[in-house]
Parts: sequence; C-alpha cells; structure tokens
Amino acid sequence: MARSVLLTGGAGYIGSHTYVALIEAGYHVVIIDDFSNSKASVLSRLSQLTGVNRVSSYEGSVLDPAFLDQVFDAHDFDAVVHFAAKKAVGESTEIPLEYIEVNCSGLLNLLKVMKGRGVRRLVFSSSATVYGEPEELPIHEDAPRGYTNPYGFTKLMGEQILEQAAAADPAWAFGILRYFNPVGAHPSGLIGEDPSDIPNNLMPYIAKVAAGDLPHLGVFGSDYDTPDGTGVRDYIHVCDLAEGHVQSLSKLIETDDGHTVNLGTGNGLSVLEMLAAYGRACGRDLPYEMKPRRPGDVAACYAEASRARALLGFEATRGLDDMCASSWHWITTGSKDA
Ligand code: UFG
Repeated sequence: MARSVLLTGGAGYIGSHTYVALIEAGYHVVIIDDFSNSKASVLSRLSQLTGVNRVSSYEGSVLDPAFLDQVFDAHDFDAVVHFAAKKAVGESTEIPLEYIEVNCSGLLNLLKVMKGRGVRRLVFSSSATVYGEPEELPIHEDAPRGYTNPYGFTKLMGEQILEQAAAADPAWAFGILRYFNPVGAHPSGLIGEDPSDIPNNLMPYIAKVAAGDLPHLGVFGSDYDTPDGTGVRDYIHVCDLAEGHVQSLSKLIETDDGHTVNLGTGNGLSVLEMLAAYGRACGRDLPYEMKPRRPGDVAACYAEASRARALLGFEATRGLDDMCASSWHWITTGSKDA
C-alpha cells in the first residue's frame, strides 16, 4: 500500500514541486496550506500535472492545533514534510515575532499532534541561512551555526527544537534539509515561484526584468572578493530540490534514523553569471545597474554537497541553463493565469 505523507505548505513554491515528485515516487500525499503565500489554483495545476483526480487538500494553518487534529483524524500518515513557514529575510526584520510564531510555534504544534498520533518522521525545510556568516567555503554541515536576521533565527531554532526532541526520544526521525538558493520551475510551465510582489530574491527579480515589468536589475555590490566582484551563491533547480525531499523521506522510512544535509549543487555562480544565463534563456541582454552592497549579504555561499550524495544518493543534475529556461517558460506561460 502507498505510504501516506502530509505536506504542510504544499501549495507553495517548493511544496508544489515536491508534491509532484512525491506522487511520481508513488506516495499518497495530503496538502495543508493557509494560502497566505500561494494560490488555491495551484491545486488544479497539480492535478493536471500528476493525473491525481482530486488533490487531497485542506485550507488551514499550522498555528491552529484543532485544525491539525482534524486533518490527523482523517488520515493515517507515515510521515510529514513541513514547508509551511515564512521566508522573507527583509520582512522578518520588521515583524520578527510573527516569524517566530509561525516558524517555531507552527513546528511545535505539528510535533505535538504527530507525537500524539505516533507519527515520528518529519522532513524539515531548513536553510543555508543557519550558517550565518560562513567562515569557510564550501560550507560543510559541521560548520558553526549562527544567524544574522530573525528569519535565520527561526530556522536555527527549528533545527534545535528537533535536536532536543530527538535527543530525548529516539523514536523521532528527522530529515533536516538545508537549502541553498532554489530557482527555476517545473518544465511543464504549470507551477513555479509566484511573481505577485516585487521580489527580493535574485532570480524572480531578473524574471520580472526579462518580462519587462521592472526596468533593470540592481546588482547589490560589485566589489566583493569574488571573480567578477558580485555575490556568489549556490543556485539549485527546484525540481532537484524536490527530489531531495523524496530521497530524505525514503531514507527516514527505510532507517527510522535522522539526518542533516545540505541541498545544493556545490557550485557558486555570480549575480552577473545568473543575469547572462537568463539573458540567453529569454533571448536578449538584460539591463542592470551596479548598486551598493545589500546590508547583511555575504560575498559567497555554496555547499559542500557530498554528504547528501553519500547519505541519500542526492545529486543536483539540472544545470544553469535549465534553471533559467524553466523559469522563463513559467513566466511566459503558466504564471500568466495562475
Ligand atoms: N541580488 C542582487 N540584486 C537583487 C537581488 C539579489 O544583486 O535584486 C544578489 C544578492 O546581493 C546576492 C544574490 O543576488 O548576492 C542572491 O540573493 P538572494 O536574495 O536571491 O538570495 P540570498 O542568498 O541573499 O538569500 C537566500 C534566501 C534566504 C536564505 C539565504 C541563505 O533567500 O532565505 O539564501 O542561504 F536565508
């Protein structure tokens, strides 16, 4: 019988791509989402993409324990993949308490209901942000942890909550996945990153410039100690990331033992390299202006990717051109009437 998985935040950017990967891997998947940063129209797209007749989903928040109880009453889950959280670094500095509430209390609520039902496997969306200011590159999982903003604080605290729970009770099995910079979209063009607001992150911003919605990219810093002076990051295709979740989940099911891994490619790319690649995807050179450094940014951040390979068999296979082409395909097709 198919294993049953609860996906919190399953209508969001990474959640929706992971839904597809889980269905393809033969799981039965139930989504909960409060649609605070996603649209209900994603659900029919997921149905179209996967052939699942009616995507099983509930509207509600991880902040609502009674809602979580109802969902767990209706299903017998083998595991949970937990995406539902707030993720904008800048916003977190303005409303830190909301970030702590959603990201930390939401996780606690989920753990409590899971414990009560004997569901002990959880895949947790962590982030390279838990490395704070990296001291060494590439960044190894055993590198010192820290935070530079409230969002980062909540991700570090999330990891620590899981570590405390697992230390006290070995029945827990947690897959802690530290994402680097997820970009791109499903090749169908049916799901992708929702471009509604003015984006803070690089790739959605470039996409808006390519679409003509924004005049040019502001490049934050041209005097970093990097090959071309602009910031270097480890961009990973969201479909590779989604597959990483499936591998993490099957490892938890197989071993009932936890793991903490980086999910990145291990390669750093600069802002100007990203811009040039997107220009190739959309067929024109994209305008940019050099700006001062953005406060809080580091020069370079990329993963030591070997632990995820050794432990989970994870390998990011999709390259830069695929990341840009799939994003552009989504922007010019599916995102229009989503
Ligand atoms: N950048 C620009 N112009 C922009 C936006 C970004 O030049 O308009 C540059 C940044 O300065 C940086 C690079 O593009 O050098 C990537 O910036 P992003 O905002 O896309 O990503 P970050 O690496 O700053 O942040 C991401 C996630 C965070 C996570 C962090 C840690 O957004 O959630 O990685 O790994 F915490």
